[in-house]
Amino acid sequence: MTDHYAVIGNPIEQSKSPLIHTAFAQVTGQDLDYTKVLSPLGEFAQTVDAFRAAGGLGMNVTAPFKLDAFAYATDLAPSAQMAGAVNAMKFEGDKVYAENFDGLGLVRDVVHNLQCPLQGRRVLILGAGGATRGALLPILAQGPAEVVIVNRTVAKAEELAQLACKHQSGAVPVHGVGYADLRARSFDVVFNATSASLTAQLPPLGASAFAPGCLAYELAYGKGLTPFLKLAQEAGVTRLADGVGMLAEQAAEAFEWWRGVRPDTAAVIRQLTVPLV
Ligand code: ATR
Repeated sequence: MTDHYAVIGNPIEQSKSPLIHTAFAQVTGQDLDYTKVLSPLGEFAQTVDAFRAAGGLGMNVTAPFKLDAFAYATDLAPSAQMAGAVNAMKFEGDKVYAENFDGLGLVRDVVHNLQCPLQGRRVLILGAGGATRGALLPILAQGPAEVVIVNRTVAKAEELAQLACKHQSGAVPVHGVGYADLRARSFDVVFNATSASLTAQLPPLGASAFAPGCLAYELAYGKGLTPFLKLAQEAGVTRLADGVGMLAEQAAEAFEWWRGVRPDTAAVIRQLTVPLV
Protein backbone atom coordinates (compact mmCIF):
# COMPACT_ATOMS: atom_id res chain seq x y z
CA MET A 1 0.00 0.00 0.00
CA THR A 2 1.28 3.44 -0.91
CA ASP A 3 1.80 5.77 2.07
CA HIS A 4 0.96 9.46 1.78
CA TYR A 5 3.08 12.47 2.72
CA ALA A 6 2.93 16.12 1.70
CA VAL A 7 4.26 19.61 2.19
CA ILE A 8 1.78 22.26 3.30
CA GLY A 9 2.14 25.99 2.68
CA ASN A 10 0.69 29.07 1.01
CA PRO A 11 1.96 29.61 -1.65
CA ILE A 12 3.25 26.09 -2.30
CA GLU A 13 4.07 25.92 -6.03
CA GLN A 14 7.72 26.85 -5.40
CA SER A 15 8.39 23.97 -2.98
CA LYS A 16 11.16 21.53 -3.92
CA SER A 17 10.11 19.03 -1.23
CA PRO A 18 8.05 16.77 -3.55
CA LEU A 19 10.97 16.47 -5.96
CA ILE A 20 13.37 15.70 -3.11
CA HIS A 21 11.20 13.15 -1.29
CA THR A 22 10.14 11.43 -4.50
CA ALA A 23 13.83 11.03 -5.39
CA PHE A 24 14.56 9.69 -1.87
CA ALA A 25 11.67 7.20 -2.16
CA GLN A 26 13.01 5.94 -5.48
CA VAL A 27 16.57 5.38 -4.28
CA THR A 28 15.50 3.74 -1.02
CA GLY A 29 12.67 1.67 -2.60
CA GLN A 30 10.01 3.13 -0.29
CA ASP A 31 6.38 2.89 -1.45
CA LEU A 32 5.14 6.44 -0.86
CA ASP A 33 3.80 9.46 -2.62
CA TYR A 34 4.54 13.05 -1.65
CA THR A 35 2.33 15.91 -2.81
CA LYS A 36 1.87 19.67 -2.36
CA VAL A 37 -1.04 20.88 -0.23
CA LEU A 38 -2.12 24.50 -0.59
CA SER A 39 -3.87 25.48 2.62
CA PRO A 40 -6.06 28.59 2.73
CA LEU A 41 -4.74 31.12 5.26
CA GLY A 42 -6.43 30.63 8.62
CA GLU A 43 -7.41 27.04 7.76
CA PHE A 44 -4.22 25.18 8.61
CA ALA A 45 -5.79 22.88 11.21
CA GLN A 46 -8.78 21.95 9.02
CA THR A 47 -6.52 21.24 6.05
CA VAL A 48 -4.20 19.02 8.10
CA ASP A 49 -7.19 17.28 9.72
CA ALA A 50 -8.49 16.41 6.24
CA PHE A 51 -5.08 15.10 5.14
CA ARG A 52 -4.88 12.87 8.22
CA ALA A 53 -8.46 11.66 7.80
CA ALA A 54 -7.53 10.55 4.29
CA GLY A 55 -4.68 8.44 5.74
CA GLY A 56 -1.75 10.87 5.46
CA LEU A 57 1.21 9.87 7.66
CA GLY A 58 3.38 12.97 7.71
CA MET A 59 3.86 16.50 6.46
CA ASN A 60 6.54 19.09 5.99
CA VAL A 61 5.48 22.60 6.86
CA THR A 62 6.57 25.75 5.07
CA ALA A 63 5.66 29.45 5.25
CA PRO A 64 3.48 30.82 6.67
CA PHE A 65 2.40 27.84 8.78
CA LYS A 66 5.42 26.92 10.93
CA LEU A 67 3.87 28.56 13.99
CA ASP A 68 0.43 27.05 13.28
CA ALA A 69 2.10 23.64 13.19
CA PHE A 70 3.77 24.41 16.51
CA ALA A 71 0.32 25.06 18.02
CA TYR A 72 -1.24 22.02 16.29
CA ALA A 73 1.36 19.50 17.54
CA THR A 74 0.69 17.26 20.54
CA ASP A 75 4.37 16.32 21.05
CA LEU A 76 7.08 18.89 20.35
CA ALA A 77 10.69 17.75 20.03
CA PRO A 78 13.35 19.95 21.74
CA SER A 79 14.48 21.19 18.31
CA ALA A 80 10.97 22.51 17.60
CA GLN A 81 10.68 24.01 21.08
CA MET A 82 13.94 25.90 20.73
CA ALA A 83 13.14 27.06 17.20
CA GLY A 84 9.61 28.03 18.24
CA ALA A 85 8.55 26.57 14.89
CA VAL A 86 7.82 23.20 13.28
CA ASN A 87 8.90 22.01 9.83
CA ALA A 88 7.98 18.32 10.00
CA MET A 89 5.06 16.41 11.51
CA LYS A 90 4.39 12.69 11.95
CA PHE A 91 0.86 11.44 12.57
CA GLU A 92 0.18 8.37 14.73
CA GLY A 93 -3.43 7.99 15.84
CA ASP A 94 -4.28 11.11 17.85
CA LYS A 95 -0.63 12.03 18.21
CA VAL A 96 1.06 14.74 16.17
CA TYR A 97 4.81 14.51 16.65
CA ALA A 98 6.61 17.66 15.58
CA GLU A 99 10.24 18.40 14.74
CA ASN A 100 12.35 21.15 13.28
CA PHE A 101 15.12 19.65 11.19
CA ASP A 102 16.51 22.88 9.69
CA GLY A 103 19.35 23.19 12.19
CA LEU A 104 20.34 19.53 11.99
CA GLY A 105 20.24 19.77 8.20
CA LEU A 106 22.48 22.82 8.25
CA VAL A 107 25.05 21.21 10.53
CA ARG A 108 25.05 17.98 8.56
CA ASP A 109 25.68 19.93 5.36
CA VAL A 110 28.53 21.94 6.87
CA VAL A 111 30.27 19.16 8.78
CA HIS A 112 29.63 16.17 6.50
CA ASN A 113 29.10 17.49 2.96
CA LEU A 114 31.37 20.53 3.09
CA GLN A 115 33.85 18.82 5.42
CA CYS A 116 34.07 21.84 7.69
CA PRO A 117 34.09 20.73 11.36
CA LEU A 118 32.59 23.26 13.76
CA GLN A 119 34.35 21.89 16.81
CA GLY A 120 36.74 24.47 18.26
CA ARG A 121 35.77 27.05 15.59
CA ARG A 122 34.71 30.66 16.08
CA VAL A 123 31.21 30.92 14.64
CA LEU A 124 29.35 34.09 13.69
CA ILE A 125 25.61 34.00 12.93
CA LEU A 126 23.99 37.01 11.26
CA GLY A 127 20.36 37.53 12.30
CA ALA A 128 18.33 36.62 15.38
CA GLY A 129 15.07 35.48 13.79
CA GLY A 130 13.51 32.07 13.21
CA ALA A 131 16.36 30.72 11.08
CA THR A 132 18.92 31.42 13.82
CA ARG A 133 16.68 29.99 16.53
CA GLY A 134 16.43 26.75 14.54
CA ALA A 135 20.16 26.53 13.88
CA LEU A 136 21.55 27.38 17.32
CA LEU A 137 21.30 24.15 19.32
CA PRO A 138 22.65 21.85 16.59
CA ILE A 139 25.57 24.26 16.05
CA LEU A 140 26.28 24.38 19.80
CA ALA A 141 26.15 20.59 20.00
CA GLN A 142 29.22 20.50 17.73
CA GLY A 143 31.32 22.20 20.42
CA PRO A 144 32.49 25.39 18.70
CA ALA A 145 34.95 27.61 20.62
CA GLU A 146 32.40 30.42 20.62
CA VAL A 147 29.17 31.52 18.94
CA VAL A 148 28.42 35.19 18.32
CA ILE A 149 24.93 36.20 17.19
CA VAL A 150 24.90 39.63 15.54
CA ASN A 151 21.68 41.47 14.78
CA ARG A 152 20.43 44.93 13.78
CA THR A 153 18.07 44.80 16.75
CA VAL A 154 20.64 44.02 19.43
CA ALA A 155 18.10 43.07 22.12
CA LYS A 156 16.91 40.11 20.02
CA ALA A 157 20.47 38.81 19.67
CA GLU A 158 21.08 39.19 23.41
CA GLU A 159 17.84 37.40 24.25
CA LEU A 160 18.64 34.49 21.98
CA ALA A 161 22.18 34.22 23.35
CA GLN A 162 20.81 34.03 26.89
CA LEU A 163 18.32 31.36 25.88
CA ALA A 164 21.06 29.33 24.21
CA CYS A 165 23.32 29.61 27.27
CA LYS A 166 20.50 28.32 29.45
CA HIS A 167 19.86 25.34 27.15
CA GLN A 168 23.45 24.09 27.17
CA SER A 169 24.43 25.33 30.67
CA GLY A 170 27.06 27.71 29.31
CA ALA A 171 29.32 24.98 27.92
CA VAL A 172 29.96 27.06 24.79
CA PRO A 173 30.15 30.86 25.21
CA VAL A 174 27.33 32.52 23.25
CA HIS A 175 27.15 36.31 22.84
CA GLY A 176 24.51 38.53 21.30
CA VAL A 177 25.84 41.78 19.84
CA GLY A 178 25.18 44.58 17.36
CA TYR A 179 27.13 44.97 14.09
CA ALA A 180 29.15 47.90 15.47
CA ASP A 181 30.30 45.72 18.39
CA LEU A 182 32.07 43.29 16.05
CA ARG A 183 34.79 45.83 15.29
CA ALA A 184 37.71 43.94 13.71
CA ARG A 185 36.88 40.51 15.15
CA SER A 186 37.11 37.62 12.72
CA PHE A 187 35.48 34.18 12.55
CA ASP A 188 36.14 30.76 11.00
CA VAL A 189 32.53 30.20 9.92
CA VAL A 190 30.02 32.95 9.12
CA PHE A 191 26.36 32.01 8.60
CA ASN A 192 23.95 34.50 7.07
CA ALA A 193 20.63 33.60 8.73
CA THR A 194 19.01 36.99 8.09
CA SER A 195 16.20 37.40 5.58
CA ALA A 196 18.23 40.16 3.87
CA SER A 197 19.13 37.99 0.86
CA LEU A 198 15.48 37.48 -0.01
CA THR A 199 15.35 41.19 -0.89
CA ALA A 200 18.95 41.38 -2.20
CA GLN A 201 20.04 43.43 0.81
CA LEU A 202 23.33 43.28 2.65
CA PRO A 203 23.62 43.11 6.44
CA PRO A 204 26.05 45.83 7.62
CA LEU A 205 28.97 43.44 8.08
CA GLY A 206 32.62 44.44 7.68
CA ALA A 207 34.98 42.38 5.51
CA SER A 208 37.23 41.79 8.54
CA ALA A 209 34.68 39.32 9.95
CA PHE A 210 36.03 36.60 7.62
CA ALA A 211 39.16 34.92 9.00
CA PRO A 212 41.63 33.35 6.54
CA GLY A 213 40.23 29.97 5.36
CA CYS A 214 36.75 30.97 6.52
CA LEU A 215 33.52 29.31 5.30
CA ALA A 216 30.80 31.82 4.34
CA TYR A 217 27.40 30.10 4.34
CA GLU A 218 24.19 31.66 3.08
CA LEU A 219 21.16 29.85 4.53
CA ALA A 220 18.92 31.03 1.68
CA TYR A 221 18.97 28.75 -1.32
CA GLY A 222 19.02 29.23 -5.08
CA LYS A 223 19.76 32.96 -5.20
CA GLY A 224 23.24 32.62 -6.73
CA LEU A 225 25.90 34.99 -5.43
CA THR A 226 23.91 36.99 -2.85
CA PRO A 227 25.24 40.34 -1.54
CA PHE A 228 26.52 38.47 1.54
CA LEU A 229 28.40 35.88 -0.52
CA LYS A 230 29.74 38.64 -2.78
CA LEU A 231 31.03 40.53 0.26
CA ALA A 232 32.77 37.35 1.43
CA GLN A 233 34.23 36.70 -2.00
CA GLU A 234 35.54 40.26 -2.25
CA ALA A 235 37.10 39.77 1.20
CA GLY A 236 39.06 36.83 -0.24
CA VAL A 237 36.87 33.97 1.03
CA THR A 238 37.04 30.98 -1.30
CA ARG A 239 34.75 28.63 0.63
CA LEU A 240 31.26 29.86 -0.25
CA ALA A 241 28.02 27.88 0.11
CA ASP A 242 24.30 28.45 -0.03
CA GLY A 243 21.52 26.48 1.63
CA VAL A 244 20.95 23.84 -1.04
CA GLY A 245 22.68 21.19 1.06
CA MET A 246 20.76 22.29 4.15
CA LEU A 247 17.50 21.92 2.20
CA ALA A 248 18.39 18.39 1.10
CA GLU A 249 19.71 17.34 4.52
CA GLN A 250 16.70 18.59 6.50
CA ALA A 251 14.56 16.60 4.06
CA ALA A 252 16.74 13.53 4.62
CA GLU A 253 16.30 13.91 8.40
CA ALA A 254 12.52 14.00 7.98
CA PHE A 255 12.58 11.05 5.56
CA GLU A 256 14.58 8.94 8.02
CA TRP A 257 12.29 9.96 10.88
CA TRP A 258 9.23 8.87 8.89
CA ARG A 259 10.58 5.79 7.14
CA GLY A 260 13.55 4.55 9.21
CA VAL A 261 15.89 4.68 6.18
CA ARG A 262 18.47 7.38 5.50
CA PRO A 263 18.62 8.45 1.85
CA ASP A 264 21.80 9.65 0.20
CA THR A 265 21.49 13.35 -0.68
CA ALA A 266 24.31 13.81 -3.21
CA ALA A 267 22.17 13.36 -6.35
CA VAL A 268 19.45 15.73 -5.11
CA ILE A 269 22.01 18.37 -4.14
CA ARG A 270 23.60 18.12 -7.61
CA GLN A 271 20.21 18.45 -9.27
CA LEU A 272 19.12 21.51 -7.25
CA THR A 273 22.40 23.40 -7.13
CA VAL A 274 22.25 26.91 -8.61
CA PRO A 275 25.78 28.15 -9.43
CA LEU A 276 27.13 30.87 -7.10
CA VAL A 277 27.75 33.46 -9.79
P1 ATR B 1 13.44 34.23 9.59
O1 ATR B 1 12.35 33.34 10.11
O2 ATR B 1 13.75 34.07 8.12
O3 ATR B 1 14.67 34.22 10.44
P2 ATR B 1 12.60 36.67 10.84
O4 ATR B 1 12.25 35.91 12.06
O5 ATR B 1 11.69 37.73 10.34
O6 ATR B 1 12.80 35.72 9.62
O7 ATR B 1 14.06 37.28 11.05
C1 ATR B 1 14.72 37.96 10.05
C2 ATR B 1 16.11 38.33 10.56
O8 ATR B 1 16.82 38.98 9.50
C3 ATR B 1 16.11 39.32 11.71
O9 ATR B 1 17.20 39.01 12.56
C4 ATR B 1 16.32 40.67 11.01
O10 ATR B 1 16.92 41.65 11.82
P3 ATR B 1 16.03 42.51 12.87
O11 ATR B 1 15.68 41.59 13.98
O12 ATR B 1 16.91 43.61 13.30
O13 ATR B 1 14.83 42.97 12.08
C5 ATR B 1 17.28 40.24 9.93
N1 ATR B 1 17.29 41.15 8.77
C6 ATR B 1 16.35 41.31 7.83
N2 ATR B 1 16.74 42.20 6.88
C7 ATR B 1 17.99 42.62 7.24
C8 ATR B 1 18.95 43.52 6.69
N3 ATR B 1 18.70 44.18 5.54
N4 ATR B 1 20.12 43.68 7.33
C9 ATR B 1 20.40 43.02 8.48
N5 ATR B 1 19.53 42.15 9.06
C10 ATR B 1 18.35 41.95 8.46
